[in-house]
Amino acid sequence: MCGIVGVVGLDDCAETLLDSLKRLEYRGYDSSGIVTQTGTTFNMTRAVGKLGALSTALRETPLQGRSGLGHTRWATHGGVSERNAHPHIADQKVAIVHNGIIENHAKLRAELEDKGHKFASETDSEVLAHLFLACFDSGMDAKKAGAHVLSQIEGTFAFSAMHVDQPDVMIVGRNASPLAIGIGDGTSFVGSDAVALAHLTRNVIYLKDNDYAVVTPEGAEVFEVGGRPVNREVVIVAASQGMVDKGGYRHFMEKEIHEQPDAVAHTLAAMTGAEGTLSTPLAREELRSIDGIVMLAAGTSHYAAMVARYWIEALARVPVSCEVASEYRYRKPVTGAYSAAVAISQSGESLDTLMAMRHAGEAGLRTVGLVNVPGSTIAREADLVMPTRAGPEIGVASTKAFTAQLTALLCFAVALAEAKGAINAKRRDEIHSLIHGLPSMIGKTLGLFDEIRPLAHSLTTARSALYLGRDVLFPVALEGALKLKELSYIHAEGFASGEMKHGPIALIEDGLPVIALLAADEVMGKAASNLQEASARGARIILVTEDRAATAVDFADEIVRVPNVDPILAPILLTVPVQILAYLTAFEKGTDVDQPRNLAKSVTVE
Ligand code: M6R
Repeated sequence: MCGIVGVVGLDDCAETLLDSLKRLEYRGYDSSGIVTQTGTTFNMTRAVGKLGALSTALRETPLQGRSGLGHTRWATHGGVSERNAHPHIADQKVAIVHNGIIENHAKLRAELEDKGHKFASETDSEVLAHLFLACFDSGMDAKKAGAHVLSQIEGTFAFSAMHVDQPDVMIVGRNASPLAIGIGDGTSFVGSDAVALAHLTRNVIYLKDNDYAVVTPEGAEVFEVGGRPVNREVVIVAASQGMVDKGGYRHFMEKEIHEQPDAVAHTLAAMTGAEGTLSTPLAREELRSIDGIVMLAAGTSHYAAMVARYWIEALARVPVSCEVASEYRYRKPVTGAYSAAVAISQSGESLDTLMAMRHAGEAGLRTVGLVNVPGSTIAREADLVMPTRAGPEIGVASTKAFTAQLTALLCFAVALAEAKGAINAKRRDEIHSLIHGLPSMIGKTLGLFDEIRPLAHSLTTARSALYLGRDVLFPVALEGALKLKELSYIHAEGFASGEMKHGPIALIEDGLPVIALLAADEVMGKAASNLQEASARGARIILVTEDRAATAVDFADEIVRVPNVDPILAPILLTVPVQILAYLTAFEKGTDVDQPRNLAKSVTVE
């Protein structure tokens, strides 16, 4: 989703701004722009499309200046066009960039227009530029202007603003959208997340909600709402120089699929204590006291939660409620039956998930953030953090973060079950040792690329596809369908196999691709019968299964086999061919694999 960068006090800062924007590219965007300040003028370039277009424009007309702002925009209010792209400049005096949504923008705009302000775009963001302009025109300094603007706006936002007559001063603020300030040596930086700044400085200040700051080359003064100075600590973030590198693969997604053995192994290591047994961030006593868990997540992370529900309820006999984060707080949930809330998010920034976690925390639940990005907002706000160690995930379609989430959640389920006395230490250690074998099984499964390629090619002309799974493979079917639709734009739906006969079977017509997930588990026979029902009505059955279960569906049209695996690990291993199929189908279709249309990596609006 939108990305903000800013530099204060660096000669020829445009190139640095562009570099930082490239690091935020993975978030998804549809236009971009940079503004710099020289003497008493702003110089601005904006472009629709990829950063390459902005980069070409900057090569043709380089921008001078020691301070500046950059932005990648994912359209919310107003179409994708150059005039709606950020930065926005009011009356050649104030430049701003903004992420989020100013919910009362229409009212503010009408008031400002009444006072003679002329707007140039259809965006909600432009009101910020005019609000700051009105403040400065009335004689306020940066600190007062920041306090005043924050008191006027409602919604979610991260912004950065500059006045043309105040070189080397930037005003930044946030509410619910992330914003980090990087402190360098005689230069300061601003970014939507530390990733944008990691190549520039490791000293970062994270603003809290409704904070604002006046940033100069010497550092930042932070204020709470109302203008009271407040101390926000400088934290040292990890350097991550290699993250914009595809490592020889054609796409980040392809690279990230291949990184899954490491992602799983590192996550397992993070869930293993010094003495070699499973461990979680919750002390044994805390685990024992858990009597109900609510899982909060969106998209792929929600499907990880759904898989975990099967594991936790079966192993630990603890009730789990899986909630679509964007629905949770608005349906006024009854929270009393649960003692812990697990917020699952790769980015740690999904606003829906963050808000749901806050709601659960306010209702008295212990919050646990299962996040992949250290230092993200969910990581900072959760009572406890359970990290996945998948490394930076750049492809918009989540792959290695999902299998890492599943790994952490399975470890959590097993540790919980043992702490609750539902399984003994021997069974805990058995499952732990099974998980140790997973990286190598995933490694073998990665060898399926060539076998899956012709299958993917044949799917490129499909108008629709169904994914079926039963029991713990049902959420994997949902994940498979999501991967195919988001990457290749082919309509796809996931169903619980047993549910087909209650309606969806009417969709089946001759040749409809049905991707069927099957494991040698206790529901295998029933799942095979459900596939027989689909096959009898003309479906083309593409069976994705472990080797020993393949014979149960001898009528399958095509079979993709993974190594035999304990049923408890089947959802993790069977995810891999499903990812490969979606990746190769998109590749064969020629869609934008790493940045599919209309999507953003980090969804920071509700
Ligand atoms: O960063 P998060 O895990 O919170 O993101 C949640 C979803 O936006 C994300 O999983 C999305 O569904 C992906 N595009 C799926 O591939």
